[in-house]
Amino acid sequence: MKFDLLTLFPDMFSGAFSDSIIKHAVEKGLIEISSHNIRDFAFDKHRVTDDYPYGGGAGMVMKVEPLAACIESVKAERPLSKVVLLTPGGRPLKQSFVEELALEDGLIIICGRYEGVDERVRELFVDLEISIGDFVLTGGEPAAIVLVDAVSRLLPGVLGSRQSAEEDSFGNGLLEYPQYTRPPEFRGLTVPPVLLSGNHREIECWRRRESLRRTWLMRRELLDEADLTEEDKHYLRMLRDGGGTQN
Ligand SMILES: C[S@@+](CC[C@H](N)C(=O)[O-])C[C@H]1O[C@@H](n2cnc3c(N)ncnc32)[C@H](O)[C@@H]1O
Repeated sequence: MKFDLLTLFPDMFSGAFSDSIIKHAVEKGLIEISSHNIRDFAFDKHRVTDDYPYGGGAGMVMKVEPLAACIESVKAERPLSKVVLLTPGGRPLKQSFVEELALEDGLIIICGRYEGVDERVRELFVDLEISIGDFVLTGGEPAAIVLVDAVSRLLPGVLGSRQSAEEDSFGNGLLEYPQYTRPPEFRGLTVPPVLLSGNHREIECWRRRESLRRTWLMRRELLDEADLTEEDKHYLRMLRDGGGTQN
């Protein structure tokens, strides 16, 4: 999958993809990440990329001409890629949306700055508008890093056999169960005995219940969409009635 990052600050990506899983995915040719400096497509004397908003108001707006030239230049190389605008007003990035995006051939990602981009960029070029959450960043670059990371880890071969995206939070519509590793006791806190029992059926049952319990405590609304068995529903009823303690 190809990611093209359109930015005024390409240096912000220099360390972001140069370690660990994403780095290996690039090296294995599973993903390709390129950044493009929008300023290189500003053809006036001072290479201006922003201007005052019509109608007045605070801040600056990213000009349409450099962005148009930048998008068209990248799109010519990547005709199948979708053009994404990162904006707080976009579709919220949820795991199910990330799964949809992972099926694309490539994403051309516009990182906004200042008050955002001239509306005509959206009208002329943008296929998808994405928000990474209900908060406002100073620029789209951190959001682009989040997007590339979340999508990349779902692509075949990116996670090794010891990692599984399905078992992570949201993979099955629930939050993940608690994880422990050695030592078995730390500052008086012990690992739940069932995890040391070697009984895989009981471990699986404990994990499912912990997953349900954590989701019920932290993100109750996720349970409305989750695929629940009769046993799950019975356990949730117990939680609601004040039962369902940890073993
Ligand atoms: C300061 S923000 C602009 C906010 C804009 N004036 C508004 O109120 O929606 C600058 C840029 O950061 C990026 N950005 C900020 N918050 C974001 C979020 N939650 N998700 C995705 N991108 C975001 C967008 O690219 C945006 O154009």
